[in-house]
Amino acid sequence: MDRQIYKDAVEKTLEKNIFYHSLALETCMGGIYDYLKTNNQLDQNEPPKEDWLLSGLIHDIDYVGEFKEFHPNKTKEALKKLDLEIPDSIDQIVKAHAPSITNINPTSKAQWAIFCADSLTGLIVAVAMVYPSKKLSDVKVSSVLKRFLKEPRFAAGTRRDEVAQCELPEGLNIPLEKFIEICLTSIQQIAPEIGL
Ligand SMILES: [Fe+2]
Repeated sequence: MDRQIYKDAVEKTLEKNIFYHSLALETCMGGIYDYLKTNNQLDQNEPPKEDWLLSGLIHDIDYVGEFKEFHPNKTKEALKKLDLEIPDSIDQIVKAHAPSITNINPTSKAQWAIFCADSLTGLIVAVAMVYPSKKLSDVKVSSVLKRFLKEPRFAAGTRRDEVAQCELPEGLNIPLEKFIEICLTSIQQIAPEIGL
C-alpha cells in the first residue's frame, strides 16, 4: 500500500484542519508503536507498523458528506469512492477509535493506540497555539500535562477520560506523562507539514 496515494486522498477529501489532524495521528501511531516495540510490549499478533500508520492516516476519511453521520463506519465506502481499499484488519483498528458508534472496543495495542491518541492531538496543537511563538518545538510535556489535568475546559474536545486509558494494564500500559511525551515528540517531528 502506497502511503502517498492515501495521503493525497485524505488531503483532497477532508478540510485542512482534519487533514492535519490525520497526519498528527498517523505520526503518533508510529511513535506509540516504536515505544512499545523498544520496550518489548508488542506481541506477535500485532499488525505491522505500516498498518498502525495507515489507520491513523485514514481514520477520518469518511468524516465528510454523505458518510459523515455514520463516521467511522463508512471508511471502506469512502475509500472505494476514491478507488482505494483497505483490509478488514485496518478497518477494525479505525473503528476502535469510536467504540460508542461502532461497537468495536479496543483490544489490540493498535486499537488502544488509536483510541487513546485520537483526541490528544487537538490538545497538543492547542497548547502550541497559545505560545507566543506558536511553535510546536517550544511545547513542553509539562505544559501539555498541566493543561490536561488542571484545565478541563482548555481544548475541551479532548476526551481526557479516553486519553487517560493509556495507563490501563490491559491496554497500552503507558503512564500518562510518557504517553503525552510520545505523542508530543511524534507530532513535533512533522510540525512543518502541519503548519506549526
Ligand atoms: Fe480523529
